[in-house]
Amino acid sequence: MVATITRQSTYSIVCPTLPDAGEIIGDIRAVFESGRVTVGENVAALEGDNCAHSGVRHTIAVSSGTSGLILLLRALNLPRGSEVITPSFTFAATSHALIWNGLKTVFCDSEPDSFTMDVSKAEALINENTSAIYPVCIFGVPGDLDAYEKLASKYGLALLFDSAQGLGSTYKGTGLGNFGNGEVFSLSPTKVITAMEGGLVTTNDDELARVIRQMRDYGKAPDGEDMGWLGLSARMPEINAIVARWSLARMDEWVARRISIMDSYRSWLGDLPGVSFQKIPDYCTSTRNYFVMLLNPDMCPVSRDELYHALKIKGVQTKRYFYPALHNQTLYKDTDPECRARLPVAERIAARSLALPMYSHMSLDAVDDICERIMSCFTSATIRPAM
Ligand SMILES: Cc1ncc(COP(=O)(O)O)c(C=O)c1O
Repeated sequence: MVATITRQSTYSIVCPTLPDAGEIIGDIRAVFESGRVTVGENVAALEGDNCAHSGVRHTIAVSSGTSGLILLLRALNLPRGSEVITPSFTFAATSHALIWNGLKTVFCDSEPDSFTMDVSKAEALINENTSAIYPVCIFGVPGDLDAYEKLASKYGLALLFDSAQGLGSTYKGTGLGNFGNGEVFSLSPTKVITAMEGGLVTTNDDELARVIRQMRDYGKAPDGEDMGWLGLSARMPEINAIVARWSLARMDEWVARRISIMDSYRSWLGDLPGVSFQKIPDYCTSTRNYFVMLLNPDMCPVSRDELYHALKIKGVQTKRYFYPALHNQTLYKDTDPECRARLPVAERIAARSLALPMYSHMSLDAVDDICERIMSCFTSATIRPAM
């Protein structure tokens, strides 16, 4: 039984929904007694649970979403130095995985409503050096997967998805995990389904699955001696798999709770001047990993940054997310200095977005409390004239 978070003096932006320790202590004790503490029967069971849930043929549990992305990209064997098209409005790990593989990031702009990579702008970025298209599930919204698929097959490109925030989302009725050459999910503490730390790589390609399974364990062949591949030490510990199985079994419950939390946020904040939200297109459902409000500086009495700081003083931790957009981060700003001009939507969303506290075990009373604090920031601010 998870204790619900009600009104409190301070709220953090995320809080993992975890089992009561007593619920899983028997399974943990069994692991200790068996001596098999990593990639044992709980990891295998988690992989099976995820395949059963999403319908995908293979799931490989790994140490994090980032290690999963690095391994999937490596296993796809893309030519070193080739270009991969990915959004700028995403978390840094998406693009870090390209750098770790010696691949060149080509940033693409985002759709203004869904915030996902804009496929209509991706085609113009394809050239003879392009090897893959690499869209991202944004806050739980997967983007138009058929359109990405069509583009990749038109140009014979690999297609992989950073679905780190998307376990529990669906596209046209199919669970994420089944798309492209492969997908990667994160099970970090900030995710709806968590292993405390961990990740899942999914694919319907038998050979890709076989290779990644070896690569998560240094690249060792099943005989345990020969190194067939360049791998990582990216195994998932058994205790993490126990927590992840508990979490995955409750996925539908967590998503349903998040839908009502988000509905409540929207009804409190939806009529505020200059405030808007991410749209969830009809073709998909979202696991609702994050709830983000956009503040239009031309219409809002408070700017995004003013609200961020004011709420911090009032005990509510929020997050400017994703901010700065990747092409403006120190590590990436010299990658392609010209790219800024073609990323107006990513720039605009990154300048306006503010993620609010959201946990599956949060009460609607806590949402009321947070919204009252937000409303007080709006009413105490001077109304700006519309531009
Ligand atoms: C979009 C995205 N990609 C990749 C990652 C990396 O996952 P992990 O933290 O499990 O390495 C995250 C995690 O926050 C993410 O949000």
